[in-house]
Amino acid sequence: MYEITYKEILNNDVELMVVNAPFVAKNAKPGNFLIVRVDEFGERIPLTIVKHDETSVTIIYQKLGYSTTLLSQKQAGDSLFDVVGPLGVPTHIRDVKSVLGIAGGVGSAPLYPQLEEYAKRGAAVDLVIGGRTKEHLLLVEDYKKFCRNIYFATDDGSFGHKGFVTQVAEELYQNKQYDLSIAIGPLIMMKNTVLLNKKYNVLTDVSLNPIMIDGTGMCGNCRVTVNGETRFACVDGPDFPAEGIDFDELMVRQNYYKSEEKHICRMKLEPKDES
Ligand code: NAD
Ligand code: FES
Repeated sequence: MYEITYKEILNNDVELMVVNAPFVAKNAKPGNFLIVRVDEFGERIPLTIVKHDETSVTIIYQKLGYSTTLLSQKQAGDSLFDVVGPLGVPTHIRDVKSVLGIAGGVGSAPLYPQLEEYAKRGAAVDLVIGGRTKEHLLLVEDYKKFCRNIYFATDDGSFGHKGFVTQVAEELYQNKQYDLSIAIGPLIMMKNTVLLNKKYNVLTDVSLNPIMIDGTGMCGNCRVTVNGETRFACVDGPDFPAEGIDFDELMVRQNYYKSEEKHICRMKLEPKDES
């Protein structure tokens, strides 16, 4: 069993947990993820290893469906049934001098270990971070420890620029040159960032989180088309150079699962009408 040693509510939708998982922690690298099961009947929940030390890992999750709601019911002192990892290919750290991180909402969590690694290796790192409201800007204090500049955007204008992260990035590109941009957030945000970056000749890396089941390349569920070829996010990613990704296909599949998930959650969580 894997004990939860710390839990923090980051906003209405998003929570952070520190979980004791020494094997995973000892071997974790930026870009790796793990799969959690809350109990023995639980679905497998893939989550980025946001931080780690010798014995524990930090995960951040959004309460979206049945399984993340169950996870959210666990408190510090409780245990998780299993934690498998580290999974996925560690981030390919490019030989670049300047990096612009672009974080959309919960995407701030998977972006964190990557940007931190670039900063550790001496790159000048800036960040554009966006969310629906000020409360949805995640890990800002942590990012301040190594980012040169941080630029904010909120959909409702409650902090920083009122609008999308891509608008802030485009403004930056008028005066600044970056060797690489790493964009992580909703698919539509990553797609629009790639289009923008192509216009300004900036390379883009992204992290993908399609629905995963086994996390070992066997089920084919996390497939993604990259440069016309099928790749699996769990074993070939989750990080990919973004230019060749078929985001439209991913969005169609994600919408399919979202409507299925709503249906399943209603069945599992709503009491049966016995009348
Ligand atoms: P959200 O919908 O609140 O959007 C976050 C930010 O993304 C917005 O504030 C905005 O700045 C930007 N954005 C949104 N739509 C945009 C558009 N059309 N063009 C440009 N920028 C846009 O996001 P959320 O609810 O915090 O995150 C949920 C989404 O993030 C889910 O779809 C989830 O799958 C995805 N996600 C991805 C990863 C990953 O590894 N890629 C990890 C966690 C979550
Ligand atoms: Fe099954 Fe990736 S989750 S192949």
